[in-house]
Amino acid sequence: MSHIIAPSILSADFANLQRDVEMINNSQADWFHVDVMDGMFVPNISFGFPVIKAIKKHAKKPLDVHLMVMDPDRYLQQFKEAGADIITVHYEACTHLHRTVQAIKALGVKAGVAINPHTPVNLLVDIIEDIDVVLVMSVNPGFGGQKFIENTYHKIVSLRDIIRATKSKAIIEIDGGVDMLNYTKLLEAGATALVAGNTVFSSPNPTQTISDLKKV
Ligand code: DX5
Ligand code: ZN
Repeated sequence: MSHIIAPSILSADFANLQRDVEMINNSQADWFHVDVMDGMFVPNISFGFPVIKAIKKHAKKPLDVHLMVMDPDRYLQQFKEAGADIITVHYEACTHLHRTVQAIKALGVKAGVAINPHTPVNLLVDIIEDIDVVLVMSVNPGFGGQKFIENTYHKIVSLRDIIRATKSKAIIEIDGGVDMLNYTKLLEAGATALVAGNTVFSSPNPTQTISDLKKV
């Protein structure tokens, strides 16, 4: 199966959100990556339910909702109702991660776990068989357009070994600083999904950039 490209709505033009959603609909992108920031877990606030509902109204592809939110259990039901197809929570933001993952799956949506750049991948060994997506942060979460952290390649290789050993079916998704210069190397290391914000939306032709990122 070809890799997944998930353009990040965080870099879209919010004054022309429907236009940017249609651009993604009509492109080779696979998912909409939707970043929710609470101003506590990360030093930034993005958007919440009304904006996600507005995206969902026009989106013809799955919404991959990345919660940079402390104690996200409080809001899982509302994210499902707003239109999330995948809900990813942070390892660092959940005291009872196994319970959170089960709660996401009970809602009938796919469950993902994100890890910050400093979090070792082997901490996921006991949850990897229960999840659909591992989101490896390749920048410190909170902002688009940051510089890619090179250590990510090692993490992908280790994660791939863990996934093989456990026969987990989890997708390895990379988030932050993905660009035309590093995306091939990320795929070679074992990534199966790539988020791209700045690279897509600040390019002169976002539709073409998405199709370039789909090339292997
Ligand atoms: C960062 C977000 C990312 C962000 C990626 O906290 O989780 O999804 O939108 O943006 P780029 O691709 O510009 O680094
Ligand atoms: Zn994200």
